[in-house]
Amino acid sequence: MKPDTRVVHTPAPVPTSTPLSVPLYQTSGFAFDDPDAFADGMTRPDGAFVYTRFGNPTVRALEDAVAALEGGTAALATSSGMGAINAVLLAALGAGDHVIAQRALYGGTLALLRDLAQRWGVEVTYVGGHDPEEVRAALRPRTRVLYLETIANPTGHVSDLPAVSAAAGDDVLVVVDNTFASPLLCRPVEHGADVVVHSTTKYLGGHSDVTGGVAVFADDARYRETWRHSVELGVTPDPFAAWLTVRGLRTLALRVRRHEENAAVLARRLADHPAVRVVHWPGLDTHPSHAVAARLLGGFGSTFSFDLADAEAGRAFVTGLDLVRLAPSLGGTETLVLHPAATSHRQLDDAQLAAAGITGGTIRLSVGIEDADDLWEDIAGALAR
Ligand SMILES: Cc1ncc(COP(=O)(O)O)c(C=O)c1O
Repeated sequence: MKPDTRVVHTPAPVPTSTPLSVPLYQTSGFAFDDPDAFADGMTRPDGAFVYTRFGNPTVRALEDAVAALEGGTAALATSSGMGAINAVLLAALGAGDHVIAQRALYGGTLALLRDLAQRWGVEVTYVGGHDPEEVRAALRPRTRVLYLETIANPTGHVSDLPAVSAAAGDDVLVVVDNTFASPLLCRPVEHGADVVVHSTTKYLGGHSDVTGGVAVFADDARYRETWRHSVELGVTPDPFAAWLTVRGLRTLALRVRRHEENAAVLARRLADHPAVRVVHWPGLDTHPSHAVAARLLGGFGSTFSFDLADAEAGRAFVTGLDLVRLAPSLGGTETLVLHPAATSHRQLDDAQLAAAGITGGTIRLSVGIEDADDLWEDIAGALAR
């Protein structure tokens, strides 16, 4: 071969020993000797790897790891948490179908449900998430999905997953966003969920350096159907994003424990502070979901909210911080704060904000893994100001 050809065709070695860490297969496609294997790989998720939008070994490593952690049969990684939620809902719903959804949800999910209602006539009934009777009363012949969050963003409301998923019955797909809990605190499939979604941007990735999502399926047929839709939607993650997430997973257990120790310290100190009206951390026995959380979860999570007097006090607080940064997202190693009414839940009108338990003075804190006393010094200073 001439040099011009040789530079184009560096062979990819196939290792004969097992690498210690998951390799990054940063390739958009794979070459074949057998045209039938090529064609077959485009029709199912467990055929040969063909094209990275359909599947990729690095992405598969992430999918298999999260499926095993959640106790599901298979998982589908996506380019964002919203990508996973869209793939699951678009695969499950048709025009005129009915969804029962928890009132307190991430703002992006509530906005998606509103768009589905406006554009496709998908009807949505909102429920509290702890009362099986309320879910049973909301059921209709065309109810296809019950949508819940394990620990709701940002109020820390914990759904009674076994009770409400049993009330939905076998024909309704129970979808649970487990982002705030992580599979270390809760495995919703064990409590009746059919699909578990995550924003892996948060605790699973854990370092605020990657955007991603994943959907885990209890049932193989649902997985295959959703895979087909995700291929059409094009929500596949880039292999590098999947690789970063797999690397983040290695320290998930250490991080989750430390996040929560810090959250417990801050939640208790905030609850004792005169400027704070109420702290919405389910680890406090004053929280309405405390008993359910203690029964279902292996911990109480580390992203929670608390209420100051009003929007003005909230604004003064977030601008008075120094170490704690005002930024979107959660679940990274550093502590972050935001004002939900103005940011993560901005799509909600006043009635929806009230239904989701958010006031103008609500502040959300994603507690990191720093020293708790350093964090408290910063927070106490901002509260004093
Ligand atoms: C609970 C929850 N689910 C889903 C999402 C969406 O995830 P992503 O931003 O990765 O699309 C978020 C984002 O904040 C979230 O908090």
